[in-house]
Amino acid sequence: MKLIFLGPPGAGKGTLAVKAVEILGVQQISTGSIFRAAVAAGSPLGLKVKAIMDAGKLVDDETTIALVKERLTQADVQKGYILDGFPRTIPQAQALASFSSVEKVVNFDIPDSGVLERLGGRRVCRMCGYNFHVKFNPPSQEGVCDHCGGEVYIRDDDQPQAIQKRLEVYRAQTEPLIGYYREKGLLVDIDASPMVDEIVVNFKKVMGIK
Ligand code: AP5
Repeated sequence: MKLIFLGPPGAGKGTLAVKAVEILGVQQISTGSIFRAAVAAGSPLGLKVKAIMDAGKLVDDETTIALVKERLTQADVQKGYILDGFPRTIPQAQALASFSSVEKVVNFDIPDSGVLERLGGRRVCRMCGYNFHVKFNPPSQEGVCDHCGGEVYIRDDDQPQAIQKRLEVYRAQTEPLIGYYREKGLLVDIDASPMVDEIVVNFKKVMGIK
């Protein structure tokens, strides 16, 4: 199954993707995670994208498309994948269509108030990338990841100014993809407001999985 997870920042795409990977047996490809790993490694890509990400803006299409195109040539994604955070612009979607055939686009529907609550309380493991939340899913020991013992931190782009910018960018550049994919008959909507277990049930329903 070749899927796109589309939705505003903090809608819960990454959180559901972790569950969906287990359900569907496919790989998650998160462009945000790839960029964060590059920043952490201090690679040339990381140096190029750090300031852009911290400001809540999008990395340029050329760089992002090349990265995903290369990733989709790898053996582990030939049977399927979940693209989490890509495409985010119409040119990215057009490019994707030229090198892979997506079967469904899952659109995460959530009001801004939900986004603000989720991003405002998000805590992330620096080592394994697991997403915690101070209210909905706190780590057992503050600042320490339950899964790998790594340091749990606040992403630089989860500062209030960057969150605001990311929402603006989403509205201007990513939201038009909803119409783009709906017209192609690929879009399924999912109510992203409930707690994770309920969303998993809804996800299975829209995917036709028992
Ligand atoms: P990226 O990492 O993709 O950020 P994003 O799209 O803004 O998505 P988030 O990771 O913030 O949110 P999410 O929807 O995955 O929510 P999560 O599951 O974590 O991108 C970061 C940056 O990289 C971009 O700003 C850009 O600069 C660059 N970039 C990436 N892709 C790009 C592209 N294609 N083109 C150009 N630039 C690109 O959940 C959020 C919180 O809520 C967590 O704390 C979680 O525990 C909690 N939560 C989740 N679900 C629930 C629930 N159901 N109930 C209660 N709490 C929940």
